[in-house]
Amino acid sequence: MLITFEGIDGAGKSTQITKLVRHITNQGVDVLSLREPGGTAAAEKIRTILLDNSHNISPIGELLLFSASRAELVQNVIMPALAEGKTVILDRFFDSTTAYQGYGRGIDLGLLQSIISLSTCGITPDITFYLDIEPEEALKRKFAKSSIPLEFEGEELDRMERSGIEFYRNVQKGYQEIIRMSPERIVSINALESIPLIHHKITEILMDHFPC
Ligand SMILES: Nc1ncnc2c1ncn2[C@@H]1O[C@H](COP(=O)(O)OP(=O)(O)OP(=O)(O)O)[C@@H](O)[C@H]1O
Ligand SMILES: [Mg+2]
Repeated sequence: MLITFEGIDGAGKSTQITKLVRHITNQGVDVLSLREPGGTAAAEKIRTILLDNSHNISPIGELLLFSASRAELVQNVIMPALAEGKTVILDRFFDSTTAYQGYGRGIDLGLLQSIISLSTCGITPDITFYLDIEPEEALKRKFAKSSIPLEFEGEELDRMERSGIEFYRNVQKGYQEIIRMSPERIVSINALESIPLIHHKITEILMDHFPC
């Protein structure tokens, strides 16, 4: 089974994945937890290039780098794990490409679809949890500051995070559109709820969808 988590930076994906991995592992299920971009030696190198804020990368270059990282992860890790019957939990997958490179950077959505099909070998998650939060809230949370400048440029931000608040608003709109198009796969959860409550909702939804 393939479970993916989506949402803008700081929405709480890693927090919930850590809790879910512990929960599923305690039930005796063989879980593999991975993040995008990255997950293989080559893909981690691509991640470093993508997040390095000294690089000025074009939107198409960014798309192809993310997609190259994904192709490595899918073919070398995800497909073999799924074939062995493992549960794979993925921190971001192709919905991030549609939201960030499509709605955020403005790349044609039809073109994106072709590249997504190529890089994923057609794999689709069984279920996707989207953690829904306003960009301002997510960034405040991420950097644990009371106020984040709307056009943040701090050295501590990676290349993607320096894209600006308007970019993140477009990404959020993109996610909303993606959910509208795939309501049977994507579950949207209010990310402002407490960490334990969100975890509880996620485990309940998984039990409802995939009773063992
Ligand atoms: N429901 C929540 N309520 C309050 N704070 C939260 C909640 N979930 C996560 N946080 C906190 O928000 C911060 C960002 O969370 P986390 O790193 O899980 O987000 P993320 O979606 O993985 O971000 P990124 O995309 O940048 O990796 C962390 O400090 C985390 O403890
Ligand atoms: Mg994270």
